[in-house]
Amino acid sequence: MCGIVGAVSQRNIVPILIEGLKRLEYRGYDSCGVAVHQDGGLRRARSTSRVAELQAQAEQDGIQAGTGIAHTRWATHGAPAVHNAHPHFSAGPGADVAATGRIALVHNGIIENHDELRAELKARGYVFVSQTDTEVIAHLIDQHYSGDLLDAVQQALPRLKGAYAVAVFCRDEPHRVVAAREGSPLVLGVGQEENFVASDAMALAGVTDQIVYLEEGDVVDLQLGRYWISQLDTRTGRYGTVQREVKTVHAHSGAAELGPYRHYMQKEIFEQPVAIANTLDAVTGISPELFGDGAWRIFKEVDSVLILACGTSYYSGSTAKYWLESIAKIPTSVEIASEYRYRDSVPNPRTLVVTISQSGETADTIAALKHARAQGMNHTLTICNVATSAMVRECALAYITRAGAEIGVASTKAFTTQLVGLFLLTLALAQTRGHLSEADEARHLKDLRHLPVAVQAVLALEPQVIAWSEEFARKENALFLGRGLHYPIALEGALKLKEISYIHAEAYPAGELKHGPLALVTAEMPVVTVAPNDALLEKLKSNMQEVRARGGQLYVFADGDTAIESETGLHVIRMPEHYGVLSPILHVVPLQLLAYHTACARGTDVDKPRNLAKSVTVE
Ligand code: F6R
Repeated sequence: MCGIVGAVSQRNIVPILIEGLKRLEYRGYDSCGVAVHQDGGLRRARSTSRVAELQAQAEQDGIQAGTGIAHTRWATHGAPAVHNAHPHFSAGPGADVAATGRIALVHNGIIENHDELRAELKARGYVFVSQTDTEVIAHLIDQHYSGDLLDAVQQALPRLKGAYAVAVFCRDEPHRVVAAREGSPLVLGVGQEENFVASDAMALAGVTDQIVYLEEGDVVDLQLGRYWISQLDTRTGRYGTVQREVKTVHAHSGAAELGPYRHYMQKEIFEQPVAIANTLDAVTGISPELFGDGAWRIFKEVDSVLILACGTSYYSGSTAKYWLESIAKIPTSVEIASEYRYRDSVPNPRTLVVTISQSGETADTIAALKHARAQGMNHTLTICNVATSAMVRECALAYITRAGAEIGVASTKAFTTQLVGLFLLTLALAQTRGHLSEADEARHLKDLRHLPVAVQAVLALEPQVIAWSEEFARKENALFLGRGLHYPIALEGALKLKEISYIHAEAYPAGELKHGPLALVTAEMPVVTVAPNDALLEKLKSNMQEVRARGGQLYVFADGDTAIESETGLHVIRMPEHYGVLSPILHVVPLQLLAYHTACARGTDVDKPRNLAKSVTVE
């Protein structure tokens, strides 16, 4: 999603800004831009193409300076078009901002009261040239400007409702950038006689490793060789200094080599054995303290679990519900974060609130967490892939998955490592509640440790999956079936297929077929079936017969010992081994490969599927 980079330095910072944008590209965007303070005025370049094209444009136009801001935009208000791309300029009432400008601004997030502010600013004579909510912020700051940019920003911000991270500079103050955050992530990068701001430390990799994670409501004034962070004191209505810790962060550059792979998604699917092994690296035994100090006391106190997440992370939570209820015997509900935050629910202070997130910055999940806390549920834990993220900072307890940077928009290795973290949580809660014998603990740990090898064996099925994907590439619809623990895996398989191949895919618990979706089954409808050799296998086989009797084409991922054989209308890929309760972690892998190869066969932009962003930092 949107990305911000800004800098104040004595050297030319345009290459740093462009490189920063390149590092944020994986988040997804549909336009980009850069603005600098040059020759006493504002200059900018904007593009609806890739950052590389913006770079060429900036070089051709001779854009270079020591102060500037840059942005990748994922359109929310206003189409992806050059006039809507950031940075936006303001130049006072009635001014032609395209020709000149006083304030330059980039913004991540959504301003909810932009209509009201736009009407007010128009009445004052401000001319709007975009359909964005962002442009109102530039004009609002301009309206308050009387020689001190920080003062103008501090006066403007309390008028904004919604979520934002902004970076601003002014024609009249050449060596200054002011930035602020409320609801969207922003970091400050501290250099030698130069300072930087970015929406992610990764954007500053190689520039500085001295990072301050700005907190909600922080406003930072960046100048050459100094910075100052302030917060509004709502009692006095004045801004006061706040101290924030400077951390040494060895951020990953994000420019991981593709090696022998065609796409990051394929690379990440194949990294799963290592990602799982890394996630288990520090686990020598099961104990609540794996989740942080004080976990034992909290686990003892809770009598239920509430999981909050979005998308793929929601499906890992949905899988974990089966584990938590059957192994730890603890009542568990799983809620889509964007729904939970707006519905009336019955809070139980003895609930363990678990958020799941790859990025740790998903706005809906963070808001749902805050909603749960506001209702008195203070026992919070996150399963997250980014140790420095807002989610980890907001939760009392955490388990950090060690999937490594996930660049492909479609989540793969983050999902399987989340499942590992959630299984460990299940075992730790089971232990605290007296439902885990030493023998069980040893058996589960042995199975967990063998997982990387087991996943590797599943990855060897790739050639067989490729053969299927050529048929899938010609379809426009697909159904996915699973039962029990594997129903969320069917959901995840359908999500993967639709988001990267654009084939309409739906998943059902197989027993639901006859209650409606069977009407869709024809010879044209591929029905992907997840068939582990578990207690529901015979029921599943009956559901498969219902499909075959109607001429449907079944594509079954069956465990080795299921005795399901290929025949007309029934295609089988045999999974190497049945893996008991951890089977979902194996069964999702061929579904990832099926989506990936089908998308390749259809020629879509696999790593950056249309309309999607990696880190969804707006509501
Ligand atoms: C799908 C996918 C998304 C994310 C969702 C939540 O492949 O990646 O559905 O799972 O946007 O993101 P995180 O896990 O970062 O909170």
